[in-house]
Amino acid sequence: MTSLLQTQRKTAVPGAWPERLAALLSGRSALRLNEPLAKKTTLRVGGSADAYAEPASEDELAGVLAFCEAENIPWTVLGRGSNLLIRDRGIRGVVLGLVHEIFCSVRVESANIDCGAGVKLKTLAGCARQSGLAGFEFLEGIPGSVGGALRMNAGAMGGAIFDRVESVRYVDALSRVQVATPTQLQPAYRGCAALARAVVVGARFAGMPGDPKQIRETMDRFSRKRWQSQPAAPSAGCIFKNPPETSAGRLIEELGLKGMRQGGAMISLEHGNFFVNAGNATARDFLSLIEMVREKALRERGIHLETEVQIIGE
Ligand code: EPU
Repeated sequence: MTSLLQTQRKTAVPGAWPERLAALLSGRSALRLNEPLAKKTTLRVGGSADAYAEPASEDELAGVLAFCEAENIPWTVLGRGSNLLIRDRGIRGVVLGLVHEIFCSVRVESANIDCGAGVKLKTLAGCARQSGLAGFEFLEGIPGSVGGALRMNAGAMGGAIFDRVESVRYVDALSRVQVATPTQLQPAYRGCAALARAVVVGARFAGMPGDPKQIRETMDRFSRKRWQSQPAAPSAGCIFKNPPETSAGRLIEELGLKGMRQGGAMISLEHGNFFVNAGNATARDFLSLIEMVREKALRERGIHLETEVQIIGE
């Protein structure tokens, strides 16, 4: 890993795009070359990013996107990597992480919570509880960030994050800051296509006045359910969307696939729709396991399984 901002004057190749990108950013932003990404995901697999940037403001983020657009360089935004399978040869172009403190603020204003994209869902849920705002309890055990959760319309326990959204603030692919309501964004089950080529920078949520003790009890109940039915080992949450016919986890159990391994990747014994890294797995191991399950579901039950986990990179 090379810290470009620290070393560019000594080592950068004149005219190379990373050098030009570095010149756009202030000293408060970070930019590194050949950044390993596996540890930035909960599955702990995948190769490196050509360049990894942590912009320190919306303006600098917009500047990176404008640069990529002008230079025809691909860009990808990472959340907390909890729903992500990065292929073994990594990601070309620029990978963006919204982890600078500027994207991690939480502010409560009566029944509204304004949150940066980098805020952990656990933090949002905790803040809502402390403020006596109900409706966020289901977020507590989801290991994601606000930005990633909005992109995926993350959900659990019958709730989905867009249920609580008033507006989303994002930078679009043309580097324009936009604010849009759920009606404009049209989120779906585990996805929001309108945000696919955008970078969420924050959102305004609306809570419902509630009793902090009762909110705590609901969170505890959800947490118990999660620990009883889902594995603690590193995973990316559910690998497949539930097909209309059944729960993907139940289907995988019925097909007798729980515990099946491919290299270091294994189908969880606790829940069939969770694939865990049982040690030294590669992205290729997970991809083979996914293909094997999809083929068997189609062959034996006529069911098309669609991945929920985002698969990116080379
Ligand atoms: N089941 C089995 N075997 C299994 C897994 C599940 O028989 O291996 C059965 C359960 O007994 C239950 C039914 O299938 O009767 C549904 O299981 P569960 O309650 O665990 O829900 P799910 O449909 O498998 C969904 C979400 C989860 C979320 C849980 C809890 C999807 C794809 N998954 O799982 O979300 O945490 O409900 O609300 O919608 C995620 O999105 O990454 C995720 C984990």
